[in-house]
Amino acid sequence: MLRSQLNSIMQDALDFCGEHRFHLPPFATWSPQRWSAAGAESRALVAQQLGWDITDFGSGDYDRTGLFLFTIRNGEMGGAGGKTYAEKLLIVGEGQVTPIHFHWRKMEDIINRGGGVLVCRLWNRTADEGLADTPVTVTCDGVQRTVPAGGELRLEVGESITLEPGVYHTFWGLAGAGRVLVGEVSSVNDDRIDNRFHAPAGRFPAIDEDVAPLHLLTPDYPRFCAHLGAASCR
Ligand SMILES: [Fe+2]
Repeated sequence: MLRSQLNSIMQDALDFCGEHRFHLPPFATWSPQRWSAAGAESRALVAQQLGWDITDFGSGDYDRTGLFLFTIRNGEMGGAGGKTYAEKLLIVGEGQVTPIHFHWRKMEDIINRGGGVLVCRLWNRTADEGLADTPVTVTCDGVQRTVPAGGELRLEVGESITLEPGVYHTFWGLAGAGRVLVGEVSSVNDDRIDNRFHAPAGRFPAIDEDVAPLHLLTPDYPRFCAHLGAASCR
């Protein structure tokens, strides 16, 4: 992705959050220079991979296959003690698909916080990590629901779905209903190691540096924040 495109997605996301009166934490608007000047008191931001995470999953077509995420809070997978939970903000466009995947360890609630309608398609996984043909049972806001393999559930504003580890899922915004502001509440998450995509997909984008970054993405931390212990995300 072009850095200029990533910058404009960030600005657009800040505007969309403002429309919905959702406020991101202070480090969301740190400049690259502010990150470079940060001291040891900010190490947790890097260790927990907090911040901007925008991806086209390697598709080259963000609007059709892509996702905006911002990690608001997180713990450290495999870390002793500390936070056991995570929270993200997602923005999902109409027809903007997140590819079919499951998580090895993360259990997540996906919540429609406002805007349009989120469509989720679900499968169980087979022993060899394929798509099973068995019905899928999930919980939506405390109520069990069962859909056939590859069946769809629509989340209207205020509704949520709980996804157990190992349940294949893909989602997008319903055409004609508008962009969706999505919340994610989950167990601790490490996107560098916890995603199993059904078809090969890149979790983080290749970046063409045509302009300077407006704000850093989490995959930028090794370049700008090595002094905070950032290691490569790829
Ligand atoms: Fe997921």
